Amino acid sequence: MRNSASSDLMLSLVLDAMPVRVFWKDRDGRYLGCNQLFAQEVGLNDPREIVGKTDFDFCTTEQAETFRADDIEVMNAGVASMSVERPAVLANGETVWVEASKHPLRDSAGEIIGVLATCLDITERRKASDERARLIEDLITARDAALSASASKSAFVANMSHELRTPLNAIIGYSELLREETTDESAARDLDRILAAGRPLRGLVNDILDLSKLGAGRMMLHDEAVSPAVVVSEVMEALALMAAKDGTTLRWAAPPPSFSTISDALKLRQCVLNLVSNACKFAKGGVVEVSLKREWRAGASEFLISVRDTGIGISPEQMSRLFQPFAQAEHGIARQYGGTGLGLAITRQLAQAMGGDVVAESALGEGATFTLRLPNRPLSGKLSLRQKAVA
Ligand SMILES: Nc1ncnc2c1ncn2[C@@H]1O[C@H](COP(=O)(O)OP(=O)(O)O)[C@@H](O)[C@H]1O
Ligand SMILES: [Mg+2]
Repeated sequence: MRNSASSDLMLSLVLDAMPVRVFWKDRDGRYLGCNQLFAQEVGLNDPREIVGKTDFDFCTTEQAETFRADDIEVMNAGVASMSVERPAVLANGETVWVEASKHPLRDSAGEIIGVLATCLDITERRKASDERARLIEDLITARDAALSASASKSAFVANMSHELRTPLNAIIGYSELLREETTDESAARDLDRILAAGRPLRGLVNDILDLSKLGAGRMMLHDEAVSPAVVVSEVMEALALMAAKDGTTLRWAAPPPSFSTISDALKLRQCVLNLVSNACKFAKGGVVEVSLKREWRAGASEFLISVRDTGIGISPEQMSRLFQPFAQAEHGIARQYGGTGLGLAITRQLAQAMGGDVVAESALGEGATFTLRLPNRPLSGKLSLRQKAVA
């Protein structure tokens, strides 16, 4: 007798010490018992007062019906329902979130005589996850707004540079015409000034237009038969006069292989022009060597154009932002060498749009090597015929 009394006491001590709410009910939803924590939560001073009460005594009808339905489901199925999250209105009117696990309660014969439940207060956890969800939603909204602002900015820049280019072409075109025709020396000097100011401006507007087109995914590529050796030679010829004036040696490292591939000749030319003109600009009086070769990489044929110079080189820190728009190695570069820092950004984006890439190797004071890598695509029947007709 004393033993049974002390084990009852022990049991209620254990139940009251548990940091979770515990209660058990009969088949009709009447409470048979609970621990102190649960009693407090439903507004009772003593757990014993709960015996015989139902959820309809503590909760709104709607909530009591939900709890009752949960109980019936567990009793009918004969298996536990684990970690079900439900809101619960407390005796003091406050709403909390609970995570309830309910188990069928069986007598010694194994008959289900009710349910035993444990409940955790997960209000704080729910608040934190609601807050996280709200933050994520805010971030998504902000990201979408930024993306659409950036898209409209790109479209605006593309339209504006297009609008600038037309009159600028007219100004430069007519100035060139007048410059050719004029015999008046002072007019010739003025026209040279207009051209000297206008041509770089046209270059800048073209670069910005290209970059915004690439950014907006509006750059179209035109497939055609192209001889990389011919494209590179033409670029070298175009820059030969300027290089010679600067005392720079511009040459092939070795006779280039002659082959044709499917590519976009203008875009390829633009990439090579950017790399070779940079090399000439930063290696005045030095040597610029260009090489062309074919390679297999990951089972695909590629052609590589390397431009190696003996110029000022690039520090590791400068290297990390080399291909970003408007990134020049130092602020002094623009003053000393001109340029706006768009060439390499355009070159990389063009190369990537064509299925390749461009990489740089360099150390400060030790020159630089830029390598353009592009897919070497075999000519289809039609294009190779056209190319033959041209050849
Ligand atoms: N061959 C090179 N040698 C040294 N620095 C280079 C070379 N090519 C590019 N750079 C560095 O990268 C920067 C960006 O090049 P680029 O995008 O072509 O712009 P820009 O020629 O208008 O300055 C240059 O300003 C320069 O600092
Ligand atoms: Mg450049």
